[in-house]
This record gives sequence, C-alpha cells and structure tokens, in this order.
Amino acid sequence: MRLLLIGPPGSGKGTQAKFLVDQFTIPQISTGDMLRENVHNKTPLGKEAQKFMKAGELVPDSVILDMMKNRFSENDCAKGYILDGFPRTIPQAEGLDQLLSHMNQQLDCVVVMDVPDNLIITRLSNRRSCKGCGQVYNLIFEPSDIAGKCNECNEDLYLREDDNPVTIKQRLTVYHEQTAPVINYYSNQGITKVIDAKGSIDEIKTEILTNIIP
Ligand code: AP5
Repeated sequence: MRLLLIGPPGSGKGTQAKFLVDQFTIPQISTGDMLRENVHNKTPLGKEAQKFMKAGELVPDSVILDMMKNRFSENDCAKGYILDGFPRTIPQAEGLDQLLSHMNQQLDCVVVMDVPDNLIITRLSNRRSCKGCGQVYNLIFEPSDIAGKCNECNEDLYLREDDNPVTIKQRLTVYHEQTAPVINYYSNQGITKVIDAKGSIDEIKTEILTNIIP
C-alpha cells in the first residue's frame, strides 16, 4: 500500500499516519519529522532548512526531492509507505512522479484531509510533542496522563517553534497558495479520497480506513 496524506497544517496527517502504520505495517515518511531531526542534529541540511521552517515557509523543492530520493532507497520502503507532508508543491509532485516511475511504482490513494482554517489554530497551539520519542499530544483533545510528560517514555513535552499563531497563519497561507493545487494534480489522476477531518480522531480514523481499504 502506497498512500499519501495531504491537508493543511494541523489537519491530523501525523496522527492518522500513526494508525495506518499499525494497520498496514509500513513506514510513515514525514518530511517535517525528517527536517526536524536534521535541525536537531545541526546537519548542513538542517541548518539550511531551519530558517524556512521557523518562518512558516517551504524548504526549497530541490532539497526535499534529494532527501526523498535517499529515503526511498531504504529497505523499509519495499512493501509500501505513508507519505505525510510530501509532496506539497506541483514541482515536488512532478518530482515524485519521476522517482516513482524509476522505481516502477505508483500511489494507490491520496487521502485529502479536509478541515477549515478556524479549527487549525486551536489544534496547533495546543499540540505538545515529546522531546524523547516524538509522540504527539494535545492539551485539549488528546492530553498526556501526567501534564507535561510523555505517556510512553516520561520525557518532557514541548511546543513546536512553528506552532505559534503568527507562524501558523503563515503556514496556512503557504498551504492555500502552494499545496492546495497539488490536490487537483491528483484528482486529475482519479486517485483522491476526500475525508471530512473536522470530527474526532477516532471518527476520522474509521472514515479513512473505510475509504481506502478496497
Ligand atoms: P510538517 O511537520 O509537515 O507540518 P504541517 O504540514 O504543517 O503539519 P503538522 O505536523 O503541523 O500537522 P498534522 O497535519 O500532522 O497534524 P497532527 O496530526 O500533528 O512541516 C513543518 C515544516 O517543515 C513546514 O512548514 C515546512 O517549512 C517544512 N516542510 C515539511 N515538509 C516539506 C515539504 N515537503 N516541502 C517543503 N517544506 C517542507 O495534529 C495536530 C494537533 O491536533 C495534535 O495536537 C493532535 O493531537 C491534534 N489532532 C489531530 N487530529 C485531531 C482531531 N480530529 N480533533 C482534534 N485534535 C486533533
């Protein structure tokens, strides 16, 4: 199974990807997580990406496509994968098509997470992520058992640098200008399934599974 989750920041792509990883035993490939790891490790790629991420702008397409070319060559991609946050521009979608064609692969389904902007700021400003294992929580919708501590590894939770209201608004603007056209790119190929992503995490999980399992 080769899936792509596409939707605005905070639409729940990462949250739903985790369920799909368990369901299909295939990896989640999140360009956001890969970039944050590079920033954390202060790699040359991370140093270049950080200024774009901090400003709520997209990292250049060439950087992302090189990173993804390397990622697809790893063994765990052989059985399939869940793409989360890539592609998010038309040049990235075209670049992905070329990479897939070299691997003799195609996407099975593009899941479009449809959620209005007014729900996003609440979701993202209340998101907390674990410094240790990366597990994601929400102060309102999915709190950890002990405030500020991860249920899985007991490490501290933190607020992402780009989850402040000013940067969230910029990320939404960038999404509507540069990423929303990618949805049309895939609807023209007839492989999109639009999911109403306004409901609870469990409702959305059920809707995704109902729509993508043949
Ligand atoms: P990235 O990390 O990909 O951020 P994003 O797309 O903005 O998405 P998020 O991770 O913010 O949201 P999500 O949809 O995964 O939501 P989540 O499940 O966590 O990218 C960050 C930056 O990296 C970009 O701005 C850019 O600079 C760069 N970048 C990354 N990829 C790139 C690319 N391909 N090209 C160029 N640049 C790139 O949920 C959010 C919160 O809501 C959580 O707290 C969760 O618990 C809660 N929640 C989830 N579902 C629900 C629900 N149904 N109801 C209530 N709460 C919910």
